[in-house]
Amino acid sequence: MFGRIATVMTSPTGCSSGGIDIHWRSRLVSAVARWRPRNVLDVATGSGDVALALARRLRSSARIFGLDFCEPMLERAETRRVRREKLYSGVEFILGDACAIPMPEASF
Ligand SMILES: C[S@@+](CC[C@H](N)C(=O)[O-])C[C@H]1O[C@@H](n2cnc3c(N)ncnc32)[C@H](O)[C@@H]1O
Repeated sequence: MFGRIATVMTSPTGCSSGGIDIHWRSRLVSAVARWRPRNVLDVATGSGDVALALARRLRSSARIFGLDFCEPMLERAETRRVRREKLYSGVEFILGDACAIPMPEASF
């Protein structure tokens, strides 16, 4: 289902929320930024809205990983990242299931 959506929508969350996601994403990013994190894992990143917004706020002070199990979604996210590679240099999108995160234990 998400694979089909990915081919037609840049931001599935934006479409399904009627745009209200802009507000909660901004609050989320501010809350995360206050922690001054070195590593961030955005689980179920979709087309990367949260991961990319975090990268804009945190600049290169953090490594940001966006995890999703839907390849077309990750391709969409990666296309957006590459388009503004300098701004999003600390972001990496990885294929994986949230139920079996392919990262070492206690990395985040
Ligand atoms: C609404 S979309 C993206 C939401 C995104 N976090 C945002 O804020 O825009 C939900 C995403 O969750 C992903 N997803 C659902 N279950 C998952 C799981 N078990 N592991 C990884 N990704 C999952 C889907 O592939 C889809 O891309």
